[in-house]
Amino acid sequence: MIQAVIFDLDGVLVTTDDCHYRAWKRMADEEHIPFDRSINERLRGVSRMDSLAIILEKATKPYTEAEKAGMAARKNAYYVDLIGLLTPKDILPGAMDIVNALKARGIRIAIGSSSRNTPIILQRIGLDKTFDAVADGNQITHSKPDPEVFLLAARLLGCEPAECLVVEDADAGIEAALRGGMKALGVGSASKNPLATYRAENLAAANLAEIVQ
Ligand code: BG6
Ligand code: MG
Repeated sequence: MIQAVIFDLDGVLVTTDDCHYRAWKRMADEEHIPFDRSINERLRGVSRMDSLAIILEKATKPYTEAEKAGMAARKNAYYVDLIGLLTPKDILPGAMDIVNALKARGIRIAIGSSSRNTPIILQRIGLDKTFDAVADGNQITHSKPDPEVFLLAARLLGCEPAECLVVEDADAGIEAALRGGMKALGVGSASKNPLATYRAENLAAANLAEIVQ
């Protein structure tokens, strides 16, 4: 019986997945490192430094740890500029209907995101007071596919993992949810993931209220 729903943020509730791509692309172009949307798919749900490690697989020269930290900081500065333009209009279709339907049924809701920018994004889109708990990249050591962020969200909600459904657009996030003993709804890029408990093209097409009844 599902008592709680834990939402990933980037690419599930808000369009920031494209902002991540554009910020990494700008940094990679400056460094002459090949980077495209297919490599970007591997970065979904993955922490900033782990994402950089994936991008650097295509680099033709080695980088020192200090240079890597500088590249990650530069990408984040580009990204923070982009998310500074977010408004509630950037909430993805169907997201608010689902959030409101769950609240009306007394289902607890949380955010489970690898992003350290979660608080600023929630504020920009006007959802900083909406969730019963927020677990994000600032509070965890291991990013998805490790289940740490979802287990933290469940603990903050006071729910057992088996009572939780995770909504994810990343294959790494689907794996994290299942490894944490939770059910998973795959949307967007994870809508074809055969491991997901449920699948839907996007939140507008998902009948989450039926899944949790
Ligand atoms: C995840 C994104 O939500 O957050 C990843 O899907 C991103 O692409 C990760 O790398 C970390 O984000 P941030 O904002 O801490 O750099
Ligand atoms: Mg995501």
